[in-house]
Amino acid sequence: MLVSSLSLYAHFPWCVKKCPYCDFNSHPLTGSLDENAYLEALAVDLGATSHVLEGRQIDTVFLGGGTPSLFSPDAMARLIEALTMHLTNAPEITMEANPGTTEHHDFAGYLAAGVNRLSIGAQSFDPAQLKRLGRIHDVGDISRAVSAAQLAGFDNLNIDLMYGLSDQTLEAALGDLQRAIDLGPTHISWYQLTIEPKTEFARRPPPLPDEATIATMELAGRDLMAQHGYDRYEISAYARTGARCRHNLNYWTFGDYIGIGAGAHGKLTNAHQVVRTHKPRQPRLYLRDPTHTIEQYIDPNAIVGEFMMNALRLVDGVDREEFQRRTGLAWSTVATTWALTSDLGLTEPDRIAATALGLQHLDTLVQHFL
Ligand SMILES: C[S@@+](CC[C@H](N)C(=O)[O-])C[C@H]1O[C@@H](n2cnc3c(N)ncnc32)[C@H](O)[C@@H]1O
Ligand code: SF4
Repeated sequence: MLVSSLSLYAHFPWCVKKCPYCDFNSHPLTGSLDENAYLEALAVDLGATSHVLEGRQIDTVFLGGGTPSLFSPDAMARLIEALTMHLTNAPEITMEANPGTTEHHDFAGYLAAGVNRLSIGAQSFDPAQLKRLGRIHDVGDISRAVSAAQLAGFDNLNIDLMYGLSDQTLEAALGDLQRAIDLGPTHISWYQLTIEPKTEFARRPPPLPDEATIATMELAGRDLMAQHGYDRYEISAYARTGARCRHNLNYWTFGDYIGIGAGAHGKLTNAHQVVRTHKPRQPRLYLRDPTHTIEQYIDPNAIVGEFMMNALRLVDGVDREEFQRRTGLAWSTVATTWALTSDLGLTEPDRIAATALGLQHLDTLVQHFL
C-alpha cells in the first residue's frame, strides 16, 4: 500500500455545557481549565507518535472538540509550535470555535498562532432553536464572531449549521441557510440533525419534521447554496472554489491521520495493514497517561466497507486507482458487487462514485460492501 498524505487531529474535550443532541467526546467544564496540564499531555502524546512521523509530513491539522476555543491563542501557539518541524510548507490548520466562547480571545491571536481556517458552530439563527439545542450563544454572538474573525484576517472560514430541527419548517431552514450565506463564509457544513443514542434528545426526542419535509429542505437548500456559489462536494459539505476542507477530504479518501488528545481517533497504514487507534475518552484517564493508545487492526475483509463508507460520501467520488492505492486490494475484489450496485442505479459504472440516487440512500448502498 502506498500512503503518503498525513493529517493530525487534536481533540479538546471540554465544553461550557453539554448540548442535548451531542454524542461527541465532550465533557462539561467544572472548575477552571488547566491549559498547561492539557498542553503538556498533548506534547507527550505527540512525542509518542514519532515513529509514525518518520519520513512523513503533516499536511492538515484539525483542532476539534469539544470546544477548542476555550483554550487561549497562546495554548494553540504552543501546540502548533511543537508541530512545526513536521508540517508541510502550506498546511491547512483548522480550529473549531464556538460563538459564546470566542469573545474572551482575540482571533488575531489564533491567526498569529498559525491557525488558518476557522470553523464556527452557528447551528441555527433562530433564537428559539438555539435555546432548544441548549446552545450557550445567541444569534448576535454568531455574526459578531464571524465578523471579528474576518476582520482579524481569517479568509478561510466554515460555518456549521443544522437542519431538520424541532418543528422546523422549510422556510425556517432556508432562512437559516440564507443568514449563514449572508455572512460570506468560504465553506458551509449543513448537517441534518440526527438523534444519537444515549443523548438527552434520545431520551426525550424533540418533534422533528417528517421525511418529506426533510427531503424538500435538502433539495431547496442545495439549490440555494448553488445559487450563491457553494458547491456540494460531500453529503453535508459545501464550498466556494478552492475552499474544500483538505483535512476532511483526507478522511473521505481513506487517508492516514494521527489522533491526539482525550478520545481522539487515528488511522494509520503500514506496509500490510490498516490500524485504527483511539485514546481514553475520559480527560482524567487521558491526563494520567497520554501515551496510552488502544490499537485495533482492521480485518482485511472489512477494509473495502470502510473505504466505501468514506469515499462514497464524496459527490465526485474517487478514481479506481485510489482504491488500490489506499486499500492495497485489486479492483477485481469488488468488481462484482460494484456491477450489482451500478445495475441498481446506485453507483456510476466507471468511477467510484454514488449516483444521485445512491447518495440519497447511502446507508443502503454502503451495506453492499460491508
Ligand atoms: C465536533 S461538533 C462540535 C463543534 C463545536 N463544539 C460546536 O458545537 O459548535 C461539529 C458539528 O457537528 C454537528 N453536530 C453535532 N451533533 C450533531 C447531531 N446530533 N446531528 C447533526 N449534526 C451534529 C454540529 O453542527 C457541530 O457544529
Ligand atoms: S458545544 Fe459542540 S461539542 Fe460541546 S456539547 Fe455542544 S455540540 Fe457537543
